[in-house]
Amino acid sequence: MASIVPILAPMAGYTDLPFRRACRRYGLYYGTTALIDAGALVHDNPDSAAILHRGEEEEWLQVQLLGSIPSDLRRSTEILRDGPWHFDVLDFNMGCPVHKVAKRKAGAALMREQELAFECVSVIREIWPGRLTVKMRILDEEEPAPTVELAQKLVSLGVQGLAIHGRLAKMVYSGPVHTNIIRAVREAVPVTVTANGGVFHWEDARKLSEETGCDRIMVARGAIGHPWIFRELLQQEPYLPTKEERLDLMEFHLAEMVKEYGERGAMILGRKIVSGYICGQGFPRELRASVVKICTWQDFQTLLVALRNDAAGRAY
Ligand SMILES: Cc1cc2nc3c(=O)[nH]c(=O)nc-3n(C[C@H](O)[C@H](O)[C@H](O)COP(=O)(O)O)c2cc1C
Repeated sequence: MASIVPILAPMAGYTDLPFRRACRRYGLYYGTTALIDAGALVHDNPDSAAILHRGEEEEWLQVQLLGSIPSDLRRSTEILRDGPWHFDVLDFNMGCPVHKVAKRKAGAALMREQELAFECVSVIREIWPGRLTVKMRILDEEEPAPTVELAQKLVSLGVQGLAIHGRLAKMVYSGPVHTNIIRAVREAVPVTVTANGGVFHWEDARKLSEETGCDRIMVARGAIGHPWIFRELLQQEPYLPTKEERLDLMEFHLAEMVKEYGERGAMILGRKIVSGYICGQGFPRELRASVVKICTWQDFQTLLVALRNDAAGRAY
């Protein structure tokens, strides 16, 4: 089949520089930050720096902006434009279904508050000199028209690419991905459309690409503890790492987190990362349970030795 362009989806709490570095080892090129809140950026929230941190070796990086207050979006876009990061794309979040985001009419709520959405996009478009994209969901599972019309309007405002997560906002991350709606959008707009939803293995990507007609495939949860998914998509075949390779990569990822957050911060943030690498891989329950007790690099190394011993004692 024709080649697939694998793209990392933004994931709050995950797609930081260490996560991207793990994915880049397996061929990821189109990386992204997690969402950055326009208000947090304007008010100099210290978390913003870590979200925006770009590695010197990262050739291509998208930043994702979330917000619904035009004045905050204006100022935050200026900050992103004038700062040291030189992001290749600014993506506007119109897909986040989380209640505290929806309450302030941001994320997916903007798909239902379209006048406000168009105002937000226009403000960003005015300031951002580079490529501007929107990540959105579908508005109806049966009828393509509402999603298509919204997409067309966004394109008419200067949006140059769309990533469509083929689920309704109320479905959050579950249920089928409505590939027919993504296909209808792709056929209706002259800009690139990226298909998103439910890609955990090469076969899922092949199916999503075939059903939507999109060669650009965005992966979110499928990359957690599984950065070689990008290699699978590039090589168009399944890839099963050895346990040693899995554990080596996990160690690399955590070491990168220590550089980014210091030992204490990395060990707390890293627990869910460790779980992502080892859950479902046949490691004994007591080793998996000990992840929540990791507080120091030494704790992590002790667990790693036990995992390596366990892996060495069993066939994969
Ligand atoms: C933990 C987590 C965090 C997410 N954070 C973001 C985010 O910051 N911005 C965004 O547009 N979508 C976010 N998403 C949604 C994903 O980008 C993606 O659209 C969704 O998970 C569907 O793709 P998947 O089926 O491949 O996981 C997040 C999803 C998860 C699971």
